[in-house]
Amino acid sequence: MNAIRLMDLAELPDDGAVPFTVGEGDWPLRGVLVRRAGEVRAYVNHCPHAGHRLDFPPGKFTTPDGPWLRCASHGALFRFEDGECVAGPCAGHYLQTLPVAVRGTAVFLLEAPAPL
Ligand code: FES
Repeated sequence: MNAIRLMDLAELPDDGAVPFTVGEGDWPLRGVLVRRAGEVRAYVNHCPHAGHRLDFPPGKFTTPDGPWLRCASHGALFRFEDGECVAGPCAGHYLQTLPVAVRGTAVFLLEAPAPL
């Protein structure tokens, strides 16, 4: 697979989380890019608790009190750095990591994951 350009790095603020979609049809890859202390990571937008997408309304991932990814369904909190659930019904489980890289001024997905 060729790397897929996801977005300009400038669209992803520090301590920010921005959704992306790759593919079309009923089952595209839905992910979220996060950035903290200059490091960019990506996760599948799929909660390990019950499989719901994390954001609701779409694009709303973070909490007002800190840079956590929050699942809107039952409130699980995930660390930006590694996707570990640190509070909520799936504590100790992880979001699925996606391989991404910053090249120049853009963020690229390097490889698509196996189907969930
Ligand atoms: S589906 Fe995410 S916490 Fe329940």
